[in-house]
Amino acid sequence: MKTLAFDVLKSPSLEEQLKEDHYISELDPLNADDRMPLVAAYNRNKDTIALVLQLVDMLPSVEEAADMDYFQACAAMRDIGIMLGSMKRHGVEPVHVIPELEEKLNLLGNTSDLPPRDTLIHYVRWNPEGKRERTYTGTDDERQLIKSVKVAIHPLYKAILSLDELYQLSLDDPEFVPKCEEVATYFDGMIKGVVNAKRNVSPQYFAEELRFYFDPIKLNEREYLGPGAVEMPVFIFDHILWNCDLSEKAYNEFKQAYVPYNQASVREFYYAYRQRPSLVNKVVRELDESVSYSETKMYSAKSLVKLFNLLKSFRAPHKKLADKAYEHASKDQYREKGSGGYEPGVLKYILELNLQALDRLKHSMQSYENR
Ligand code: HEM
Repeated sequence: MKTLAFDVLKSPSLEEQLKEDHYISELDPLNADDRMPLVAAYNRNKDTIALVLQLVDMLPSVEEAADMDYFQACAAMRDIGIMLGSMKRHGVEPVHVIPELEEKLNLLGNTSDLPPRDTLIHYVRWNPEGKRERTYTGTDDERQLIKSVKVAIHPLYKAILSLDELYQLSLDDPEFVPKCEEVATYFDGMIKGVVNAKRNVSPQYFAEELRFYFDPIKLNEREYLGPGAVEMPVFIFDHILWNCDLSEKAYNEFKQAYVPYNQASVREFYYAYRQRPSLVNKVVRELDESVSYSETKMYSAKSLVKLFNLLKSFRAPHKKLADKAYEHASKDQYREKGSGGYEPGVLKYILELNLQALDRLKHSMQSYENR
């Protein structure tokens, strides 16, 4: 039997996860449904006092926070998160004005097995749709940004699971090409997400307003990142496909920064693959060590190239989008940083590393063909 990187059976299946997401999105453990629509006006008016008072009013007691089950804790953190990001957007460090937050956030974080603040999962997967949708600004741009991630995130999890299965196959396995195509079909969600953001989110509005709600907050004498799309586990997809064995300090730090903002089932992939060659290096080795030419192997390797090209179809337009947004923000150093604390230059760096891995594969395929 093939061994997958982690025991998928121990984690909820993706279908169960979708049901769970829906269940959490329906919950309102802090009775915040009527209060959430007021946040947009508070933010428009930079009314930090109203924001602080609302958060104080919504907060559970320590006992209530400790008694919450997993689902309630996730939903409560989602709603508190909107208040945290809003306060921080106007320069208020939440724990400085509400010191008891720290203990309560730590309790909710522990129960959810996630950091002690909201993540992209809270903001997107556990955010209800329609009238109850939680936003900082109430604008269509923000709702479309949420939607852009929503269309991409579940297919991305599926792509990661399929990529883990692809990893187990050798190039001469007849399943290699169809599995590669399956991964590609799921990864296509990322491209759809970027296309939606390009069509419906104004880069200027993103640069001048939206991204500041995703700024880090201080807690437990350190910083915790806000719920930006950079937390999506695309880095796990990359990790398996082309870089778990890459010794590139800056890039490895980038990946490590986002691991904790993902659920245990995703974190497991990160740790399991750290000791393995990436899929691309495994394939390169297989081609280099083959004694005779096989059409099947070549066909499989070509399907992997197609997968790389799909990654490029996400990265190149996404980078263009980010560059356009940050053109509007280049006057002031602080404002040049993305929600993940990185400058848009990181996107060029990742794209370049990504293309180097593709070149390695193409080079090995060429030598194989000339054999
Ligand atoms: C107006 C829209 C967007 C802008 C301006 C933007 C900008 C950025 C920037 C500047 C980064 C660098 C890291 C950081 O944030 O510190 C980044 C990273 C990232 N963003 Fe976006 N983004 C946008 C929309 C999206 C959407 C819709 C998705 C997914 C559907 C997405 C997925 C990612 C991912 C996965 C990364 C990590 C880097 C990578 O894998 O290449 N972004 N984004």
